[in-house]
Amino acid sequence: MAGKILVTGGMGYIGSHTVVELQQSGYQVVILDNLSNSEQGILDLITRVAGVKPEFVQLDMQNRERLEGFFREHHDLEGVIHFAAYKAVGESVENPLMYYRNNVGSLVNLLDCMTDSPAAKNLVFSSSCTVYGQPDTLPVSEDAPVKPAMSPYGNTKQISEEIIEDTCQANGGLEAISLRYFNPIGAHESGLLGELPLGVPNNLVPFITQTAIGKRAQLTVFGKDYDTPDGTCIRDYIHVSDLARAHVVALERLLAKQHQKSHEIFNLGTGTGYSVLEAVNTFEQTTRVKLNWKFSDRRPGDVEKVWADTGTANKVLGWKAERGLKEMMSTAWQWEVNLNDGLMD
Ligand code: WQD
Repeated sequence: MAGKILVTGGMGYIGSHTVVELQQSGYQVVILDNLSNSEQGILDLITRVAGVKPEFVQLDMQNRERLEGFFREHHDLEGVIHFAAYKAVGESVENPLMYYRNNVGSLVNLLDCMTDSPAAKNLVFSSSCTVYGQPDTLPVSEDAPVKPAMSPYGNTKQISEEIIEDTCQANGGLEAISLRYFNPIGAHESGLLGELPLGVPNNLVPFITQTAIGKRAQLTVFGKDYDTPDGTCIRDYIHVSDLARAHVVALERLLAKQHQKSHEIFNLGTGTGYSVLEAVNTFEQTTRVKLNWKFSDRRPGDVEKVWADTGTANKVLGWKAERGLKEMMSTAWQWEVNLNDGLMD
């Protein structure tokens, strides 16, 4: 059995898929999650998919004392993958302090505990392509300038990367890899894990599948006058299972001490951009389900077009996304159907 890995936010969408990947790679996993954006039932689904039940501790990482107690008890951690954060762009605009207190405050608490811990010196951090804003050139590479964030959520990711950089530069022996996700979508091939948006989805694909299943009356496409071939925004959609795999690859790079500097940064995308209408059409063609949708005005804060330069992740990290848009849509749909059939009831 390989070492014990802490996955914060491991009951969430990307976290749960990463827990399964880690377990299937032989790691022992302990999950920290405050269940603010997930449900206890996800633990059973992780166990069904991976065949191994991870340890789960319900804990809010803003609680410094409780986190320190956790690290005293788990002094044999070999690495940490940190997902735990709020991630709704619009909510962050309405309630910025909640985002800074949680996303930045929890990270500082975690880094303090890791610095004081005898073992846990390897950190994989969940970052986001929102740090690029609207890139000047596309595809966007890791050395592109970080633009002023377009939301407090995006700003917490920028600030977090800087805090990690400074902490790795100071003595403390912390080694880290930050992974800048593009647009994670899709679900586990088993149909037993996927995105569990609580309330009305902010993101495109859960809104598509909930419209298709009848939970939502109609999808709204935000804007048709962008400077793109069909007028709708372009994004680099990446399958959540490809993303999960990248986290194990990054962790193992740190464990094997193959990293070339104390804090490395990689883009996690496919390198291909698709418009909103291409995504909608691919969903309909793949699932044979007709979507009810309409155009509306642009959504404030939306980036027009962004897709990843994946060269560094492919060559240096040694990871490449494998799944295409059709598989992203078919797995997202199967998950929605299974939820509707009572999977989580
Ligand atoms: C994609 C496109 C919308 C919903 C955000 C965060 C990013 C990450 C993923 C956390 C845009 C359009 C959407 C809808 C639509 N989150 N859309 N109708 O905004 O690219 O990225 O979520 O890590 O950090 O910034 O993703 O799925 O919300 O939007 O037309 O009902 O779909 O305008 O063009 P986004 P998204």
